[in-house]
Amino acid sequence: MYLTPEQQAILDGSKGETMAKVMKTLVMYGETFGADKMVPVTSEYNHLVTSFGLKMMGPVFDLMQQLIDAGAVSGQRFSVDPRPVDPDVPANFLQKLIFNKFMYSKQDSYEQQLKALGLMNDDAFSCACYLDQMGNKPVMGDVLSWAESSAVVYANSVLGARCNRNSGIMDIMGSIAGFVPNFGLLTDEGRKATWIIKVECSRKPEAQLLGSAIGMKVMEDVPFITGMEQWLGTELTDEVCAYLKDFGAATASNGAVGLYHLENLTPEAKEQGAALVAPGAKVYVIDDAELQKVKANYPVIWKNRDAKPKLCFVGCPHMSLQQLKSWTVRVEEGLKASGNKKVLIPTVFTTAPAVKKEFEKTEYAQRLKNTGVILSYICPLMYMNNPLCGPMPVITSSNKLRTYTTARYYTEDEILIQITKGGAWA
Ligand code: F3S
Repeated sequence: MYLTPEQQAILDGSKGETMAKVMKTLVMYGETFGADKMVPVTSEYNHLVTSFGLKMMGPVFDLMQQLIDAGAVSGQRFSVDPRPVDPDVPANFLQKLIFNKFMYSKQDSYEQQLKALGLMNDDAFSCACYLDQMGNKPVMGDVLSWAESSAVVYANSVLGARCNRNSGIMDIMGSIAGFVPNFGLLTDEGRKATWIIKVECSRKPEAQLLGSAIGMKVMEDVPFITGMEQWLGTELTDEVCAYLKDFGAATASNGAVGLYHLENLTPEAKEQGAALVAPGAKVYVIDDAELQKVKANYPVIWKNRDAKPKLCFVGCPHMSLQQLKSWTVRVEEGLKASGNKKVLIPTVFTTAPAVKKEFEKTEYAQRLKNTGVILSYICPLMYMNNPLCGPMPVITSSNKLRTYTTARYYTEDEILIQITKGGAWA
């Protein structure tokens, strides 16, 4: 790999032993993937994925401390993924004990390390760091060193930034050095679509279901999606961006998609059109029956399939302000139609701390509270990944949460019916 004299000097130790190791790690990573050179990280902020003080992450805390002690702090300030615990989210005594004393007992000290390394502010905990209220929104062409898969696919596809699907440690290294290896989604060639997806549904497909179908088909490849203009239009409005956020997270978690293009909508597709499609691209047609088939094949791993859900999570990735408002109205209308006053299942909507603050300034906040829905900044995945919460019957509209936990997936309309009117268990 070609290194500039500055990069070579860092590798040779001009900025100390620790920085040399950081550079060496990045060079080895790049060489593994055939990178030709290192390119500067250009975004104003970085985003780290390791936000949780999980006791077993000892080696990460040690590594962070070594970096801090050596003064090898991040060249950019950064946001991080959501906090793993929120006292507002329902949990029994034993679960709270497990969260606070065993699983996430290092949370406070880890947050101190994050601050020392360059955390943007106390509210910078969300996977949807690109939401306006969070203040970490890259611009087109920016080179990033991010790892959170739902954020990487959003930044690449909707914002036109350039980022590979890095690991959690590699994104810290890139941010500290200020360089990342040039390969894959950083290159024009790597951003070409090798799949054409023809959406031929009779109604607007559920974002999380469409993303799941595409992710499972193309895996880590880049899809060019057609047929969505009738529902999404050609402008990236708040509503469309929220759809693409949820769609992208499903492509990234049900498969390993890091970038998609949507005809006449996403920035590169608007600029380059069909020229983005590589010769010999494969074709996948998605219609109503295909989506139905994909959904019917999701395994249900609850002990009792007919159990009454104990908890419902909406907001993985974190909800936008526009989504919080529209969901408030939907829940109100659902309750009114069913004659119920409050949701029938404990329900948690999750969002970024800065969005939560903004939402709480609106009249919708009290209205949502009146329905019984809890608003939280938690990561539902972190809540569920333990022996006590794992066996709980949890429902969600997130295909990412379904993929990584025992949570059962329902479409948004189905979730709405379950929480406002009741399901098969009622
Ligand atoms: Fe975000 Fe946690 Fe879901 S990081 S995408 S809320 S798994």
